[in-house]
Amino acid sequence: MECRLSMSWTDAPAAPYLRPMAQVQAQATATGQSGRQASTADLLWRSTIGKKLVMAVTGVMMLLYLVGHMLGNLKIFFGPEEFNGYAHWLRTLGEPLLHYEWFLWLVRLALLAAVVLHGIAAFQLSRRDLAARPKRYAHRGGSARRGGYATRTMRWGGVILALFLVWHLLDLTTHTVNPNGEAGKPYENVVATFGTWYGNLIYGVAMIAVGLHVRHGLRSAAHSLGAATAGRDRALRFLGDGLALVLTAGFLSVPLAVQIGAVS
Ligand code: HEM
Repeated sequence: MECRLSMSWTDAPAAPYLRPMAQVQAQATATGQSGRQASTADLLWRSTIGKKLVMAVTGVMMLLYLVGHMLGNLKIFFGPEEFNGYAHWLRTLGEPLLHYEWFLWLVRLALLAAVVLHGIAAFQLSRRDLAARPKRYAHRGGSARRGGYATRTMRWGGVILALFLVWHLLDLTTHTVNPNGEAGKPYENVVATFGTWYGNLIYGVAMIAVGLHVRHGLRSAAHSLGAATAGRDRALRFLGDGLALVLTAGFLSVPLAVQIGAVS
């Protein structure tokens, strides 16, 4: 059964010119080009708050993956057998109910959907944000149009992380750019990556971007999901800073260990 919102365009409580431009644009397009009534999902996706919700939910999904991935990476300190055995276990999870690698593929598909939705929503929100800014700010060296420190960090950080992800998959999943590139030998492949200067540089920059993105993103997500209250502000700051620090330090410990010879 298709679920529809009952409020129509003409039921709107306030005159359109009294509402912010972005909201009006979102609602005006909600009935679609064909004039048919939009579904709840359509309405939500077209609204600013809906896009923020999508960003928050997909952001939390990716954050949970990152925590698991960082913890899994720490197994490298227990030697090649344990690390490579863990990578093999990830592929056999759910057997015999699931076929070899099926669980991994489910995770990959969910992550891919999260990354794509997160990216599209971020791009559209930032375009709306720029379009809604009054023109009179445009001549001030453009700084007002680009938003504050947190906004700029999130935008550039997001672009850096998207580019990093492509490199990372070519490096350690498809092995296209990995100097060792042996399937089933992630330990040796990781050591080979951090045996190059560019590997350390790319991963170093990306891990700092991860930390900054998580730090600001967590607070934004809490606001979008309605979990941020004045009383929780300090706790949220602490959680965001703490998670960012733990993730960055945990991920960076691997290249550092290779550099000092603790992992070789
Ligand atoms: C020093 C940091 C990192 C190291 C050493 C590392 C290591 C690895 C390794 C060894 C794999 C292949 C696993 C396998 O084939 O079983 C992998 C896959 C992956 N990593 Fe990382 N990773 C790091 C950081 C990150 C970060 C920051 C992200 C996300 C922004 C990330 C996202 C992924 C994804 C999406 C995959 C693909 C999983 C798959 O093939 O199914 N990694 N990583």
